[in-house]
Amino acid sequence: MTTRDVSQPLSHNPNLLKWVEKMADLTKPAAIHWVDGSQEEYDTLCAQMVASGTFIKLNEKHWPGCYYARSDASDVARVEDRTFICSLSKEAAGPTNNWVPPFEMRKKLKSLFAGAMHGRTMYVLPFSMGPIGSPMAQIGVELTDSPYVVANMRIMARIGLPVYVEIDKGEKRVVPCLHSVGAPLAPGHKDVAWPCNKEKYIVHFPETREIWSYGSGYGGNALLGKKCFALRIASNIARDEGWMAEHMLILGLEDPHGEKTYVAAAFPSACGKTNLAMLIPPAHFKRKGWRVWTVGDDIAWIKPDANGRLRAINPEAGFFGVAPGTSQKTNPNAMAALSKNTIFTNVALTPDGGVWWEGLTGEPAECLDWQGKRWTPEIALQTGAKAAHPNARFTAPASQCPTIDPAWEDPEGVPISAFIFGGRRATTMPLVYQAFNWSSGVYTGATMGSEMTAAAAGTIGKVRRDPMAMLPFCGYHMGDYFRHWISMQKKLSETPRIFHVNWFRKDADGKFLWPGFGENMRVLKWIVDRARGRALSCETPIGWMPHYEDIDWADLDFPRAQFEQLQAFDRAAWRAEVIGHEELFLDLHDHLPKEMVYERELLICRMG
Ligand code: GTP
Ligand code: SPV
Ligand code: MN
Repeated sequence: MTTRDVSQPLSHNPNLLKWVEKMADLTKPAAIHWVDGSQEEYDTLCAQMVASGTFIKLNEKHWPGCYYARSDASDVARVEDRTFICSLSKEAAGPTNNWVPPFEMRKKLKSLFAGAMHGRTMYVLPFSMGPIGSPMAQIGVELTDSPYVVANMRIMARIGLPVYVEIDKGEKRVVPCLHSVGAPLAPGHKDVAWPCNKEKYIVHFPETREIWSYGSGYGGNALLGKKCFALRIASNIARDEGWMAEHMLILGLEDPHGEKTYVAAAFPSACGKTNLAMLIPPAHFKRKGWRVWTVGDDIAWIKPDANGRLRAINPEAGFFGVAPGTSQKTNPNAMAALSKNTIFTNVALTPDGGVWWEGLTGEPAECLDWQGKRWTPEIALQTGAKAAHPNARFTAPASQCPTIDPAWEDPEGVPISAFIFGGRRATTMPLVYQAFNWSSGVYTGATMGSEMTAAAAGTIGKVRRDPMAMLPFCGYHMGDYFRHWISMQKKLSETPRIFHVNWFRKDADGKFLWPGFGENMRVLKWIVDRARGRALSCETPIGWMPHYEDIDWADLDFPRAQFEQLQAFDRAAWRAEVIGHEELFLDLHDHLPKEMVYERELLICRMG
């Protein structure tokens, strides 16, 4: 047995100590470091990463406390085809998830992880998803050989000493998460800046609530509290316990009387959650006293309270946001949040030690692109080369967002009055409509479609069904997930109203019909007014739609004809749409709740 450098264990929990030892025996790290979560520890880790080339420290004057990382060119996004839900039966995982028999997968993982951390430090990283001590919070421990993961998780979750205290109380089940970049270091060999492995496995065992992630160091593949725990494992816990784990932003809309209405919105990856969560109202709304408050930008855990109202928490503590397109103009709140203490991954590096990405104003005369190659506007014109990878991200503390809601860490969560679904659709889907009732709303979410984006490896631009924006994140059978949504109604005294939006409809020339971003406030206001029963609308085959007069257009020259184009119900396009719904339903048929079948029939009847 080789000797191992082990820091003082920071927990007394015998199960945790035993598991850490067992995993260390399997993965053979050179050292074990129990993460305390302190600033000093963070600074030391960052300095080590600067020395190893993983991090570049940015210009302290302009980007205080900020670091820059470039991933390996093959490790830039979630890998959905390498993501597995290894439930006991294939049927439990359902046809939309990759499944391998758990016994077989465990064998495979044990061989992959054997010696995987050789020459590296294993970090024991305890984290709480949700404010520590909140009845809605859940606890995990990630064992990882990536200091990049530790640094990012310190921003994205509550980590360290207070979490050990929770673990040592022994009241909550701890979700074990094992992560390795899969790049053992031979003695005397120099490490690469971004170690990873061509072979990747992102594996979930729903029944035993375990996560094993191998081969990637990036985002949702490696920061295991996020998509792996807070969605795939938590969706299983939520189904069993009667609550909901959703790929949703949460925002609070304050009206001029100071009355706040919270809504949660599910859009697929890279379809506008961060932007909507941090929306700044147009001047006219601000003058009248409307304000938007941010609770979360990616994940919501939602639970009925004693009065039968849904309350939501943001289980995260930071934003892992898409950088390209983020600017002072589109999202000043995100710009403020990322102005300090932020980690940038796969953006471009400017000669003065700053960062740049497409869509940020002030194009640099030259910079180094996300792969470290020289980039100039001229080169871009000739070759189309992007300075930042389209899925380049910033990791920023939520507390730095100027519009962070005073209640964002309320352990009881905030009351939810409306759900919004929306995808990225060039055609067919109008700007906004409201579903008729809960079951038609569940149908609207269940049949949602969206064009694929750079957030996952795959064909960009193709429309795919992405029910409730959860296709890559639901940890069990999608048909059972719809049933769970339907069944939630019985627990509620008042159901949130359900809406569908599309910021991305285009005209025949391929231009967006809707300005989006801050102007989305106009749509939000109608939604909140509808949810509070004070706005009018018009019945259509797909739901309730605002008339032109029902939207507040002050200070925006938006012609009625363009609004009508944006809201148009195109019968031929909807025929194709409904056939797309049926294709999803065919896959799910033996688990589909009957409400979904009836809602589809009603929709077809209304379409005439
Ligand atoms: P994930 O973090 O992957 O879950 O993404 P997200 O849903 O938070 O998406 P985000 O807000 O980061 O937006 C992704 C892209 O969509 C960015 O390039 C934005 O500029 C763009 N976008 C966001 N809102 C709008 C909008 O209202 N209109 C248009 N045209 N683009 C938008
Ligand atoms: C998404 O893809 O929906 C994200 C980024 O929010 S990741 O953490 O990589 O999943
Ligand atoms: Mn997301």
